[in-house]
Amino acid sequence: MTSKTEHTVPVRRSVDEEVARRDLVMRVGIVVVGAMTIVVMLLTAGREHVYTEWRMHQVEHEKLMRSVEAGDAGPGATDLDVHIRQIVVPELGATDRCTSCHAGIEDPRMSGQPQPHSSHPGKYLVQHESARYGCTICHRGQGRALVFAEVKADDVHWPYALLPAGMTQSSCGLCHGAEEVREHGGEKYAAGKTLFEERSCVACHQLDGRGGSLGPALDREGAKHPQEVSMKYVSGPHTLPQWLVEHFENPARIVPDSKMNPPEMTGEQIEALTIFMLSLQDRDLPSEYLTPGKYLELHEARGVSKMDGPELFSTYCGVCHDTGTYGRWDDDYGKFIPAVRGPTFVQIATQNHITAAVLQGRPGTEMAPWAGGMTGEEVDRLVEYILSTPLPEGATLAPEVVSRAHQDDLLIEGDANKGEVLFSMQCAACHGQQGGGLLGPALANGVFQENVTDGFMFATIAYGHKDTAMPAFYAPEAGGYDIEDINALVAFVRLLGTGLEAQP
Ligand code: HEC
Ligand code: HEC
Ligand code: HEC
Ligand code: HEC
Ligand code: HEC
Ligand code: HEC
Repeated sequence: MTSKTEHTVPVRRSVDEEVARRDLVMRVGIVVVGAMTIVVMLLTAGREHVYTEWRMHQVEHEKLMRSVEAGDAGPGATDLDVHIRQIVVPELGATDRCTSCHAGIEDPRMSGQPQPHSSHPGKYLVQHESARYGCTICHRGQGRALVFAEVKADDVHWPYALLPAGMTQSSCGLCHGAEEVREHGGEKYAAGKTLFEERSCVACHQLDGRGGSLGPALDREGAKHPQEVSMKYVSGPHTLPQWLVEHFENPARIVPDSKMNPPEMTGEQIEALTIFMLSLQDRDLPSEYLTPGKYLELHEARGVSKMDGPELFSTYCGVCHDTGTYGRWDDDYGKFIPAVRGPTFVQIATQNHITAAVLQGRPGTEMAPWAGGMTGEEVDRLVEYILSTPLPEGATLAPEVVSRAHQDDLLIEGDANKGEVLFSMQCAACHGQQGGGLLGPALANGVFQENVTDGFMFATIAYGHKDTAMPAFYAPEAGGYDIEDINALVAFVRLLGTGLEAQP
């Protein structure tokens, strides 16, 4: 028993000690955790309220100002009232706190100081009083943000990232005509607009309701949210300006199978064109912000076009058809581009044939419909120009061939079965057995079939299209086809795309 008691006492004592020790650890722990929480809270509060980015910049700014002023021997050092600064411009929907960090933006003495302390470059803020304009109307970015990373808003969830340095000129076009700013701080914007016109981008894109429809309309290209385009193949930051730059460098790398050919430009030109794209925002700004030059541009864009036939053709059609006077193979499209001002074509195509091709396009090919992209009057002017193309010597067809081609109700009868055999032998290699088009255009195309005359077909097959790959087949004396063969071919070609078979 004794030995038992002797043994149990120390054990009990050590249990008590253990409990007391744990109790102490607990208490100390609670105190430490509590103290740490308070420190963290203080630190957080400090970061949010005392050591904030903007506050630190203002404190730094005050120091800089004092040294600048001392060096100047100018007015005595100013005490900077440290507080959040903001410019509210309800007309532009802007609440811009940029000046909370860029406190010296309107102080010319701060020129040359590091960012964010420097004064604004150029005369932009002299010409645009900051109280009426704020900053985001030109720079974009998040106006209310007080942390620079958030101001930049360059992750895909924010619609309008701060524009990269050098691209801010894209905003000039919101309110100014290009000519107003070309030599007054908007040179890159104006250069971009000129390039857009020179490169005939409207041949495939509509702007202000004018232009082709192979690519998308560009009226709000600069207002697109980054989520609206695929960033999958973009190697730089996932912002709209970067997407545009990389797409111009090589459209097919960013949009696989793009039918837009690389515009072949220098880096400077790509920047200018990107700036012009970013200016296209389709924004409704209050009229007092728009200048006379902008009104003039809007009026010209929406009014009656003054382009004559040659201008219309080179602006809208030349990108693919060049002068239109010869046919050519296009490697990018893997397609023959027909000679729409070729000497044979202009003699035998009717006004209706050409007008329909322009308005409705050739579905399934790069020849996109122009209905809506040109006014009816412009289409008439263009078709008249095409039809009045002067003929080179020796290209004139016999008058009866021409007049037959213009006869809407001429029906050429022929043996379609025989035509099918001849077609397989002589035509299918270029036009496809079902007329789907290969080296030559698709003859099964509905728009073509509906608007072409039998006389056009006859003349085409018999005499070929001069200055294109379409050969002449009428050569009875030389062992070639005779009238009957050509008629048979016309009869068969007429069946293409109709789903009708040649009758046995
Ligand atoms: C929280 C402080 C802060 C705010 C708010 C702020 N900026 Fe800045 N900004 C900076 C700093 C710091 C730099 C220098 C950054 C650097 O050099 O990396 C800078 C640089 C810039 C630049 C130079 C180009 C660049 O991208 O580096 C521009 C332009 C600019 N800010 C515009 C603005 C505009 C517009 C706003 C308001 C929408 C704004 N900033 C709000 C701190 C701020
Ligand atoms: C009328 C348009 C306009 C307004 C308004 C405007 N800026 Fe600018 N800002 C520009 C242009 C243009 C540049 C030149 C750089 C460029 O093209 O990107 C520039 C340059 C700057 C730079 C220098 C960028 C660098 O690369 O060094 C800063 C910082 C800046 N602006 C801040 C502001 C702040 C802050 C405001 C508001 C108080 C403001 N800007 C208002 C058009 C404007
Ligand atoms: C939100 C509209 C708006 C934006 C954006 C804008 N401006 Fe202006 N700008 C005006 C207006 C309006 C005036 C006329 C003066 C006024 O009433 O404030 C003006 C005046 C000017 C002037 C002075 C013209 C004169 O005859 O004195 C110049 C130069 C100028 N802007 C260039 C630019 C450039 C360059 C850009 C782009 C970086 C730009 N502006 C961006 C609206 C704008
Ligand atoms: C031969 C026709 C053609 C010409 C000429 C052309 N484009 Fe395109 N463009 C397209 C097609 C098709 C697309 C759609 C496929 C793609 O995104 O690459 C496109 C896409 C674009 C896009 C992206 C639109 C979007 O948001 O998805 C822009 C921007 C653009 N083109 C600008 C231009 C500019 C600027 C020019 C003049 C230098 C031009 N294009 C000339 C056919 C053309
Ligand atoms: C993006 C390139 C492109 C543009 C821009 C373009 N075309 Fe075409 N066009 C084609 C292609 C390709 C064909 C051949 C389609 C086929 O294979 O059936 C064609 C066919 C035609 C035809 C039918 C010719 C025939 O043999 O019947 C006419 C007419 C024509 N284009 C006129 C125009 C006019 C006028 C314009 C300008 C308003 C224009 N095209 C703009 C690519 C273009
Ligand atoms: C070497 C290739 C080639 C062969 C062979 C050929 N064609 Fe063509 N064909 C063309 C090309 C290219 C055009 C477009 C000519 C142009 O630019 O106006 C064309 C145009 C046509 C057109 C007018 C299409 C249009 O859209 O205006 C018809 C009809 C036609 N071919 C029928 C035939 C028939 C029938 C045969 C066989 C007897 C034949 N072709 C053989 C290449 C060929």
